[in-house]
Amino acid sequence: MPGVVIVGAQWGDEGKGKVTDLLADRADAIVRFQGGNNAGHTIVREGEEFKFHLIPSGILYPDKTCMIGNGVVLDPRILLGEIDGLRRRGIDVGKLKISANAHLIMPYHVLLDTAGEIKLGKLSIGTTRRGIGPCYADKALRLGIRVQDLLDEKILRTKIRAALEPKQQALRELSVQRRKLRKEAGEGPPSSEPAIEDAPDPRLDLHTMTEEHLRYGHQLEPHIADTARLCWDALDAGRTVIFEGAQATLLDLDHGTYPFVTSSNPIAGAATVGAGIAPADIEEVWGVAKAYATRVGAGPFPTELSDDVGRHMVERGHEYGTTTGRERRCGWIDLVALRYAVRLNRMTALAITKLDVLSGLETLRLAVRYRSREGAVLDRFPYHQSILHSVEPEYEEMPGFEADIGDCRTLEDLPGQARAFLDYIADFAGVPIRLVGVGPGREQTVTLD
Ligand code: IMP
Repeated sequence: MPGVVIVGAQWGDEGKGKVTDLLADRADAIVRFQGGNNAGHTIVREGEEFKFHLIPSGILYPDKTCMIGNGVVLDPRILLGEIDGLRRRGIDVGKLKISANAHLIMPYHVLLDTAGEIKLGKLSIGTTRRGIGPCYADKALRLGIRVQDLLDEKILRTKIRAALEPKQQALRELSVQRRKLRKEAGEGPPSSEPAIEDAPDPRLDLHTMTEEHLRYGHQLEPHIADTARLCWDALDAGRTVIFEGAQATLLDLDHGTYPFVTSSNPIAGAATVGAGIAPADIEEVWGVAKAYATRVGAGPFPTELSDDVGRHMVERGHEYGTTTGRERRCGWIDLVALRYAVRLNRMTALAITKLDVLSGLETLRLAVRYRSREGAVLDRFPYHQSILHSVEPEYEEMPGFEADIGDCRTLEDLPGQARAFLDYIADFAGVPIRLVGVGPGREQTVTLD
C-alpha cells in the first residue's frame, strides 16, 4: 500500500489518530499535510494516553519517519512544547522532519483569530482560536513567514516587519471599535482580552518577536528538511507512506459547510499539494467516521440531537474537544453526508469508530435522505447553504444492542444488531468497512478482511 491517505469523513474528531496509529504499523513514514494545532489526536497505548496537535500520530513508533508537510500551518511554540513533552516521556523524536516550506502561525495570527471571532459576535464560526485562518490568509497574500525563514535573521526580521504593520493596524481598529461598543453599553474592559485592548502589545514588538523566533529556529533546525523529497524517495522505493488528514471533509474550505469550515482542505486530494506528491502516488484512501456524528463550533448539522440520546453520546463517548475542551454537538450518523464524503475522497475503505458508544440504545437511526422545507426529497448532499441549514433528515431505524462490545475483536464477536448496522453503512456508502473501533485502546479494534 504505497501512498495511503487517511481522512475524516464527517466534521472531525472521528478518531483518525487511532486509525493512523494502527495503519502506521505497516508504514514507513507518516505525513501531516494540512491544518495546524487546531487538530487534536488522542492515542491510548497500553493504558497511556497521548494527545497530539501537530506531530503526526506515528511518532510513537521509533522506526518511522514522521513529517510535517508544507501544507501545515505550524505554531513553533506549540510544536516545541509537544517535542519536549514527548522527550520527557521517553519518546524519541529524532525522526521528526518538518518542511522548510510550512508556514508559521505567528502571535498576531492568534490575536487576529480571537479578535475576528469576537467581532463576528452571533455570526462567529466557533474557531479554535489558534490562528489558523489568519495564517492561511497571509500565505495566500504572500505575507507568510515560513519555517526556513527562521534560519536567517535578516530575512526573518524583514518579513515580520512587512507582515506586522497591517496586523497592528487591524488590531488597533478592532480595539477602538470594541471600546466604543462597550462604552455605549456602560461596560468596563474584560480581563480576558487585554491583548486586543491595550496596544502596544509586547507580543507584537518586532524585536522581541524576531529574537524569540530565531531561538525557535535554532531549536527546530535539526528537524527542518525537504519533506516532499523524503516522500518521493520512500514512495519510489516502494515503501508505504501514510498521509494523515486533520479536521475532515465537511470542514473543507471548498467542499464543506462554508463558511463554517476550517481554512485548509482536509480532503484526500489536498495531500498532493500539502505534501508535494502526485495524484498517482495515492493508492488508497481510508475514510474515518464515527458510528454516530459530532461537530464542534457553529454550522449546520442535520442529524443533531438535543435529547437523552444526544446526552448518552456526549457522556458515553466523552465528547469534549481535545484542543479546546468544548462539548461536542452529537447526533445520528448521516449517510447522505457520508456518501458525499466517500465520493469526494474516492475512499477505498472505511473505518467506523466508537461503535461501543451506541450500546444500550434501544433503537439505532441512520439518516438516509433529507427533506427540504418545501417538501422535496434530497438523496444527495445539497450544495446550497440555506437548503442544508433547513433540511430535516429521514431515518432508517434498526434495533440496538445491549452488550458491552469492548472486548470484541472479530466481526463474529459483535452482536447481530451491531453487524447489521455496519452492513447497512457499508452498503449505503458503497465502500467496505475494514476497521471498527470498540473502545479507546488500540487493541480495542475489530479488523475485517
Ligand atoms: P479553525 O480551524 O480553528 O479556524 O476552526 C474552524 C472550524 O473548524 C470550527 O468550527 C472548529 O470547531 C472546527 N475545527 C477545527 N479543527 C477541528 C478539529 O480538529 N476537530 C473538529 N473540529 C475542528
